Amino acid sequence: MLSLLRPLLATCVYLLLLLPGGQCRIPAYSNGFHYQDISNGNGNGEIYFNGVRLHVESPQLAVSATRGSSVTLPCHYHYEPELATPRRTRVKWSWLPANVIGEAVSPATSARETEVMVAMGNRHRSYGNFRGRVRLRRSAPGDMSLVINELQLNDTGRYRCEVIDGLEDESVTVELELQGVVFPYHSQEGRYQFNFFGAQQACQDQDATLATFEQLFTAWEEGLDWCNAGWLADGTVQYPITDPRAGCGGMNFAPGLRSYGQRHRLLHHFDAFCFTASVKGNVYFLKHPTRLNFTEAVQACVSDGSQIAKVGQLYAAWRLMGLDRCDAGWLADRSVRYPITRPRANCGPPEPGVRSFGFRPPYLKFGVYCYR
Ligand SMILES: *[C@@H]1O[C@H](CO)[C@@H](O)[C@H](O)[C@H]1NC(C)=O
Ligand SMILES: *[C@@H]1O[C@H](CO)[C@@H](O)[C@H](O)[C@H]1NC(C)=O
Repeated sequence: MLSLLRPLLATCVYLLLLLPGGQCRIPAYSNGFHYQDISNGNGNGEIYFNGVRLHVESPQLAVSATRGSSVTLPCHYHYEPELATPRRTRVKWSWLPANVIGEAVSPATSARETEVMVAMGNRHRSYGNFRGRVRLRRSAPGDMSLVINELQLNDTGRYRCEVIDGLEDESVTVELELQGVVFPYHSQEGRYQFNFFGAQQACQDQDATLATFEQLFTAWEEGLDWCNAGWLADGTVQYPITDPRAGCGGMNFAPGLRSYGQRHRLLHHFDAFCFTASVKGNVYFLKHPTRLNFTEAVQACVSDGSQIAKVGQLYAAWRLMGLDRCDAGWLADRSVRYPITRPRANCGPPEPGVRSFGFRPPYLKFGVYCYR
């Protein structure tokens, strides 16, 4: 019954907002069941059904994991009092991707949720990009925890575990985050050349994905300060400022994320904020007797049984594996950079970071970072 009421309530609230002073009535109906007490209405994931209460719970409302690993999103249900005969329940896991969480909330928002898995008894079905990667843990009666294997960068977001029992349903949500690093990225043609789709592609080409608002916010909390605006996964354009100054949104604003809001995804052009997480392989500075032009650098990595590293791979190695090397090297996008975790003289500014010389003409000679 609650599940039937919710969309109606949402529509009513919406109409009330649109039509101040307007009336909104929820139509009466009867489905032939008698409910002693239909709901406590407090959204705790509890309902009352003929005096029996269905609880759906998760001991962890947020879970943090690493890319490529397996993660368990906990969800359990039980009845109070316990049932003498088991009821037929259906479990549905759905997902609100991190890139749409930040978008405007409207009655249609729930339509952006996509199905991950539906299970009834021992039968189950998984969907889309999750097919073959998910299962229910079922370590005890009522354990409907979702196990996701081979975590990908874009699996982050809000997962909903919904237990459906006859006409009733209750759910909890669990947030999934990945441990990783955010980096700003611009085109070889210069600053502010990417529309939204170009930014998406550019991050992907560097073994990354567009950062979410939460990821950029965390990076800002950890000290990221960048005075060029970049696309985020939700289609907004923002930049993080820890040290307010003229020319970067002004000195009169507190430190924080400066936002241009939603921009036109085709027509407007900015840089990108990319997010990447740990890589399985190894990023290393190639030992080579001479410095190399770009073509030689690409070839030297291949001869060493690897590939020239992408920008995202270098950032992940710097941030998550502590890679520290005071030698400038070519990367796959024809930029030249080096990673510093222990700042020292002649190795750039006093803070740790990936130092960049930007894109360089291919005939110039540097070292090279490879990935295997
Ligand atoms: C998520 O990333 C995977 C692997 O990079 C890709 O195949 C898939 O299409 C992406 N899914 C979405 C919804 O972007
Ligand atoms: C790099 O050097 C090789 C010779 O070792 C040369 O053939 C090639 O044209 C050079 N590439 C560039 C981009 O300068």
